[in-house]
Amino acid sequence: MEYNATEVAKKIAARWGNKPENIIEMMHDIQTELNYLPKDVLYEVSKFASVPISKIYNIATFYNAFSLKPKGKYKICVCMGTPCHALGAPRIVSALERELEIKCGDTTKDMKYSLEITGCVGTCGLAPVVVINEDLYGPVQVSGVQKLIKKYDSK
Ligand code: FES
Repeated sequence: MEYNATEVAKKIAARWGNKPENIIEMMHDIQTELNYLPKDVLYEVSKFASVPISKIYNIATFYNAFSLKPKGKYKICVCMGTPCHALGAPRIVSALERELEIKCGDTTKDMKYSLEITGCVGTCGLAPVVVINEDLYGPVQVSGVQKLIKKYDSK
């Protein structure tokens, strides 16, 4: 995605009054706009909001909601809570890794899919559960993984 780091940082910092205490809100806005927290934008926002870059990085790595790596259009999260794990979630992850040709934690080259694991999403009765953006699937079978991805291939 093309963006001008200074412009993005300036606009978002101004939205939050350039106040250091609003840095988390600014980071949320950057992530919403660009889908992750690019280094160059963080450096710029650090200047506009007068927050040290080291502090911004600490926040970015502390909260799971933030990502310093680019994410795909479709974020695939495999639940690794105990019930999902016991009912085969690790095999679902392996099947998705094979299907997408990436490792868990990575994004496909075309920026279409990211694959990650998550804690319990609260629908253990459907274990093993996979969440793709806002869509929840379960119980997911290894044999159904290819079909699941195909749904999004055409989107
Ligand atoms: S453990 Fe997966 S939904 Fe609860």
